[in-house]
Amino acid sequence: MSTSFKIFNVIGARPNIMKIAPIVAEMRRYPELHPVVVHTGQHYGFAMSQVFLEQLKLGEPDYNLQVGSGSHHAQTAQILTAFGNLVQQERPDLILVVGDVNSTLACSLAGAKECIPIAHVEAGLRSFDRSMPEEINRVVTDALSELLFTTEEAAAENLMREGVSEQKIFFAGNVMIDSLFAALEAARRSPILGQLGVKRRQYAVLTLHRPSNVDDSERLLATLNAVAQIANDLPVIFPVHPRTADRLAESKIANLQKWNGIGPIDNHGTWIMPPASYLDFLCLMDSSAMVITDSGGIQEETTCLGVPCLTYRENTERPITVTQGTNTVIGTAPENLVAEARRVLSQSPYSHPAQPPLWDGHAATRIVTVIRKYLDDRVRKNNENVTSLIIS
Ligand code: UD1
Repeated sequence: MSTSFKIFNVIGARPNIMKIAPIVAEMRRYPELHPVVVHTGQHYGFAMSQVFLEQLKLGEPDYNLQVGSGSHHAQTAQILTAFGNLVQQERPDLILVVGDVNSTLACSLAGAKECIPIAHVEAGLRSFDRSMPEEINRVVTDALSELLFTTEEAAAENLMREGVSEQKIFFAGNVMIDSLFAALEAARRSPILGQLGVKRRQYAVLTLHRPSNVDDSERLLATLNAVAQIANDLPVIFPVHPRTADRLAESKIANLQKWNGIGPIDNHGTWIMPPASYLDFLCLMDSSAMVITDSGGIQEETTCLGVPCLTYRENTERPITVTQGTNTVIGTAPENLVAEARRVLSQSPYSHPAQPPLWDGHAATRIVTVIRKYLDDRVRKNNENVTSLIIS
């Protein structure tokens, strides 16, 4: 009798989609694997979810739990309940989660309570800053996981320091970079530069969405005043995350110009636009003079594109982007932001793309190879146990 394995693959927030897409595509190549995509609905709507499902060719999820937004505890609790019910009903053989968002934590907890093995992709990253919700999500998810797939060498050291057995850790590379390599050609054909009227290496890109950067309106204002100084030198394109958009609307910050999608922007300044699609954003990063961000994934993508990245945070959980890539962690002082941006702009506008070990476009293949072996071994062990029970 041939065995078939049902694998739940969880997506919740926007960046999960880039990470899950290559893994599910790889799973679909094997007849014994039955990948099921479960969207928690943490992010929703066309701009934050649907366009990514389409552009990354993942298609419609098999389930959408539609939990939507809420406080951390409410959102996590809702995902826990809804996903837990689905797991009880469907009894998958494995649950694969990625990254560090609330969906990652809630689904691994629900699965572990049902004794379903958890595979965590992007395990072991640590900022050592527990005031970040993502750090708590990482630590708990890793503690609950049976298979821990890492993107850089420091991650295994972090995990072993926390008592994770070396046998559970697999250095797989970076699935987000699998997606980047697969999409780069199409991204370079995006019309977004022409639509905005900006030229290659003559604009900067800004993204901000961390609660610590955007939730306090005085701090947000100070940051955007610093950005306005940079924007005297070159246009700064600012695709605005919904969390940040809410805060901007509440605090009525001036100094921002709005790109309404019609015609080119007409001068320097900070130009806000709706969240960009995956291909448009890759295109924007790839041709920019510099990216300013508080995102995790963007630090990795700019490293592979060879574009300077200023990380507007006190720390990074992705140290390899600093030691081998184009990333500089500049802290969160607005005046420092201006000085660092001017330093970058006075140098060569871009460097050579860096390729940290195993960021080669084949991480998903390595992950699925390990998963297949793990599931086969489990069946074999179960069969041996049954046989020994019958004999005794
Ligand atoms: C979440 C992740 C963060 C990740 C980011 C990527 C957690 C703890 N945070 O942050 O790690 O870097 O996603 O984008 O999981 N909203 C919408 N539409 C949406 C989603 C959100 O309007 O599709 C608004 C809601 O007002 C919501 C707010 O944005 O309250 C924040 O969304 P949430 O999912 O809670 O966290 P993010 O800031 O997006």
